[in-house]
Amino acid sequence: MNIIVTGASRGIGYETVKVLAANPGCRIIALSRNDRALKQLKQECEKINPDSVHILAADLSTVDTKGYLLPQIQKQFSSIDVIIHAAGTLVNKPVQQITDTDLEYIYKVNVFSLFKLVRDLVPLLTKATSGAHVVTIGSMGGVGGTIKFSGLSAYSSSKGALGILTECLAEELKEFNISVNCLALGAVQTEMLQEAFPGFQAPVSAAQMALYVAEFALTARSFFNGRIIPVSAGNP
Ligand SMILES: NC(=O)c1ccc[n+]([C@@H]2O[C@H](COP(=O)([O-])OP(=O)(O)OC[C@H]3O[C@@H](n4cnc5c(N)ncnc54)[C@H](OP(=O)(O)O)[C@@H]3O)[C@@H](O)[C@H]2O)c1
Repeated sequence: MNIIVTGASRGIGYETVKVLAANPGCRIIALSRNDRALKQLKQECEKINPDSVHILAADLSTVDTKGYLLPQIQKQFSSIDVIIHAAGTLVNKPVQQITDTDLEYIYKVNVFSLFKLVRDLVPLLTKATSGAHVVTIGSMGGVGGTIKFSGLSAYSSSKGALGILTECLAEELKEFNISVNCLALGAVQTEMLQEAFPGFQAPVSAAQMALYVAEFALTARSFFNGRIIPVSAGNP
């Protein structure tokens, strides 16, 4: 299986790549900005499964998806079976203090980058032999009717948009045998959570969540399409 994981330099994305790399049939492109962390991830994975991980350093808020990412990906893959969009960014500020730059950046990383990736990678996704699966990583705060938290208006609304984008892409791409689902996660113990909510203790580690995300990405496309699935034992 040819798999792209965004947000692979730390947290849930990093751990998900490690889980996938342990699977002998998986080849993974690990994407994020931090080249050094990606190299460390590749080294770790090489101990488990040599040549399973290729790294691709790019800033998803500015990168030219068609002009740069697509040719880089085509150097490794002629088809794509799975995309896991774990890249995400969070600002925890009162709405009055969120700048235009904050707002635009959050939407670029959390929503627009997935839109552009899928739009420009459809030709490779359609070549997946048993159909392709795009998994977006949403948030419980981005699900209608859940508890909302002050300071997260930009972040949670972007995750809400990501969820609806997931539903739209699933409908539009089903004719190409491409399934698209969103995992709306509750709190997971990562650096993002620590930076946004210092001292908060999440019930789940990144490594534990990665086991679920990887399994879902590899197996769930036969059972779900266009779904926003809450993954949380509580709220959040
Ligand atoms: N942790 C939680 O409690 C929680 C709950 C619900 C949902 N989520 C979602 O789960 C996903 C992973 O979260 P996490 O907690 O593991 O976060 P994290 O530790 O902050 O990791 C985020 C990843 O996104 C990448 N990223 C950020 N901005 C980027 C950019 N401009 N271009 C390319 N890559 C970028 C980062 O890599 P670089 O810095 O190297 O670019 C990093 O690898 C996110 O989408 C997050 O919103 C997390």
